[in-house]
Amino acid sequence: MSNSVRFFLNGQIHEANVRPDTTVLDWLRNVPRLTGTKEGCAEGDCGACSLLIGHVDGDQVKYHAANSCILAMGQIDGRALVTVEGLKTGELHPIQAAMAENGSSQCGFCTPGIVMSLAGLAASNPQADDEAIHDALAGNLCRCTGYRPIVEAARKVVAAGGAAIAGPHVAAFAEIEPQSMLSDGGAVFHQPASLNELLALRSEKPEAILLGGGTDLGVALADYHTDWNEVIALASVRELRQICETDNHLSFGAAVTWEEVLARVSAHYPSLATLIRRFGSTQIRSMGTIGGNIGTASPIGDGPPALIALGAEIELASLSGHRFLSLEDFFLDYRKTELRPNEVIASISIPKPKEGQAFRVYKISKRYDQDISTVCGAFSVFREEGQVRSARIAFGGMAATPIRAIEAEQALVGTALDRRAAESCAAAISARFQPLSDWRGSAEYRLQVAANLVERFRRDVAGETVEVMAL
Ligand SMILES: Cc1cc2nc3c(=O)[nH]c(=O)nc-3n(C[C@H](O)[C@H](O)[C@H](O)COP(=O)(O)OP(=O)(O)OC[C@H]3O[C@@H](n4cnc5c(N)ncnc54)[C@H](O)[C@@H]3O)c2cc1C
Ligand code: FES
Ligand code: FES
Repeated sequence: MSNSVRFFLNGQIHEANVRPDTTVLDWLRNVPRLTGTKEGCAEGDCGACSLLIGHVDGDQVKYHAANSCILAMGQIDGRALVTVEGLKTGELHPIQAAMAENGSSQCGFCTPGIVMSLAGLAASNPQADDEAIHDALAGNLCRCTGYRPIVEAARKVVAAGGAAIAGPHVAAFAEIEPQSMLSDGGAVFHQPASLNELLALRSEKPEAILLGGGTDLGVALADYHTDWNEVIALASVRELRQICETDNHLSFGAAVTWEEVLARVSAHYPSLATLIRRFGSTQIRSMGTIGGNIGTASPIGDGPPALIALGAEIELASLSGHRFLSLEDFFLDYRKTELRPNEVIASISIPKPKEGQAFRVYKISKRYDQDISTVCGAFSVFREEGQVRSARIAFGGMAATPIRAIEAEQALVGTALDRRAAESCAAAISARFQPLSDWRGSAEYRLQVAANLVERFRRDVAGETVEVMAL
């Protein structure tokens, strides 16, 4: 057991004696007084607190942006942290130089976060196109003054081949291996390295908090100053970090991040990739995991409707063994799931696309980027000789759980997916669901949107849709 969190801070090994559930933002600003990292919203939305996290991936050190306001100190044990103060090594980092030359600065709160997001992009995607630049900035919400010059600064750095982060080499990470247990001030943070270790801990400590990327849990930590007295962190569990691909399936360990899922599904399901690119921001997708999105069991989570429509299977593991369920059977009621106290979500597997399959998922939210869904509708049909042989439809935002729309599916089977079939399908949705009214949308609005999505799907599949905005 160790009392100190050990990591690289701006290139130097650092040991911090701190409760592992202290937010990285609070620690940076209050202890080493690295106050270039700012606090804006303190809930992962604005990007003012962005910094870079480095970890070893094969023979490389990879960096990504993260929101330090919802990140716990325990989560950086064994990793490298780069703050805006550490970006400049002698000379300005190319992004800083380009921002200065272009007159690209926003206010003092926004600029450091924007610089860090773009530095993450310049390191991880030196061929970034405009879409990737906009994606990288989606988590830095401010658009007050100079957004265009900021984008131009990013284009300039990318055109010059990007910019690596000056930091420790892979071998140096051996000195800061993640520690299996951290403890300080009454808070304990376990970091199991294997599934067996995880399951043994889970069985011994069913009350401990299971922590994926902390993008849901971290909001409560920052907003309500909840204490995490005992945490089991999943980020170092080998099996949960694996992605397996067979001829017919793609399987993601529960601790695989959305950014990693995105990289793997793009070629198979472009519509799913579009959805994931709208999932939070780069900072959120780089930390938030597929297992956490399911584990949190939100009725408006974006992953479950798409995964249910694709026919995903979830693997639950405990010391007693593994069980496999259709994802729709995992959700029992509002925030209630099939997960037993001694179990963890181990993996999620989706079939690869088959000939004749058409899949689309649509997220309807008040804002295009970085927003929670009002309604999310996912549609998957198999057609043979022009007829729908089978259909799967699922929604978020229409009930207390993500839910499959069986009657609506039946309305499509045996049809040519024409306008009349879409109308019957929409009618089945209206008859089946009684969604809630809240500040995101009234029940009537949700029902109307869900019905409209059926027609949108029909037109998309028929090739009748005109793209009105660059997605
Ligand atoms: C600014 C912001 C934007 C967001 N945008 C979106 C969005 O667009 N769409 C969306 O759907 N969500 C969004 N989210 C919510 C969140 O990012 C996702 O739900 C994410 O996938 C959660 O994953 P995580 O690993 O961070 O979960 P965590 O916060 O670590 O955990 C969430 C819950 O799942 C449980 N859990 C985690 N892993 C496991 C496991 N393996 N087994 C069992 N239980 C587990 C935890 O105990 C906890 O109860 C957003 C959040 C923020 C802060
Ligand atoms: S302070 Fe707004 S994202 Fe962290
Ligand atoms: S709030 Fe900082 S420039 Fe907009």
